[in-house]
Amino acid sequence: MMNDLPRNRFYYELLKRSIVPGETGVLEIGAGSGLLSMMAAQLGAQWVVAVEGSPEMCRLAQENIKANNFETKIKVLNMISTDLTLKHLPRRPDILVSEIFGTLLLGESALDYIQDIRERLLKPDTKIIPQLGVQYAVLIECPTLESICSVDTWNGLNLSHVNSLKDTASCVFTKKYGFRMSSVPFKRVSEPIRVLDIDFAATKQGFAPLERELHVKAIEDGVAHAMLLYWEARDGDEVMSTAPWDTLDNFPRDMQWGQALQLIDGGHHSIPSDLHVRRGEEYRFVCCTSDDHVILQFNYEPRDATTIEDLDDIEAAIEEGEGDEEESRQHAAAAATTDEVNKEDDK
Ligand SMILES: C[S@@+](CC[C@H](N)C(=O)[O-])C[C@H]1O[C@@H](n2cnc3c(N)ncnc32)[C@H](O)[C@@H]1O
Repeated sequence: MMNDLPRNRFYYELLKRSIVPGETGVLEIGAGSGLLSMMAAQLGAQWVVAVEGSPEMCRLAQENIKANNFETKIKVLNMISTDLTLKHLPRRPDILVSEIFGTLLLGESALDYIQDIRERLLKPDTKIIPQLGVQYAVLIECPTLESICSVDTWNGLNLSHVNSLKDTASCVFTKKYGFRMSSVPFKRVSEPIRVLDIDFAATKQGFAPLERELHVKAIEDGVAHAMLLYWEARDGDEVMSTAPWDTLDNFPRDMQWGQALQLIDGGHHSIPSDLHVRRGEEYRFVCCTSDDHVILQFNYEPRDATTIEDLDDIEAAIEEGEGDEEESRQHAAAAATTDEVNKEDDK
């Protein structure tokens, strides 16, 4: 990742814009090699505190910092950022910098950690680098992917039942399988969806529902084989993107982050089926996430399927029905009592 030169430039430019030589105090969380902290020192920061949770990485960062004669400028702390307190810092920092993104933007809990530091240790005007992030998803047609995930016939033999093994529930990471979407032919068949919109200077956990409906518009006729997930981190005009069309000549970035993919099941059959899409039409998906937004999952909902609103209506109707039932039970009990009383009176 240190050989992802556009990534290094992205951070260097952003640090350069905000560091006033001799004045600025910088906190880095997730320092790894120490590169971003050393950039801040090179740019003249007054002091830098670099926090790193792994003892091995911490040792490496210290060695790199020593090799570059920044020991007096950069203090490296081996701890998880949630244990950092004001007593570890010369004062509240002017800049918080971090690069703790995963294949999914929040896959390594960047929002949890940054929000924690923001709420406990930053000033209202501390600059957070990078400030914005968007997790995108887009439907793609990709016969190459399909060729390793589905089977139909061979030599007149029907093999389609093997497709019942097709995993259309999991979001998988390309780098784990050793390939990059930037070297695989595919076409985008939908508009990109902004799944998570994060302002690291303001967004708080709980900002998005754990389950929500997405209406995805097709921009091409085709088969939606998979949902492709990529992200962009942005600050002013500086952008760092994991979209495969942005990483064509960036092998290190694809091997560090790559993209995520979830195969699509087009129907409610026992065996996953293709989702054919037509340009201009909308397709309903339910996006589910874990409560920290570290995990994402997409489920296609065919046109006749029940919507989340329908489910809410059904639930409300059941509750109302239960209320009615209770009311009728009370009426019946009251009527029975009156009956008994009447009977007594008759005697
Ligand atoms: C992608 S690497 C960082 C790379 C480094 N900033 C650089 O540019 O070379 C992420 C590092 O952050 C550390 N890390 C992640 N979350 C952390 C946290 N909340 N507190 C401390 N360290 C953390 C991991 O141990 C890992 O070494």
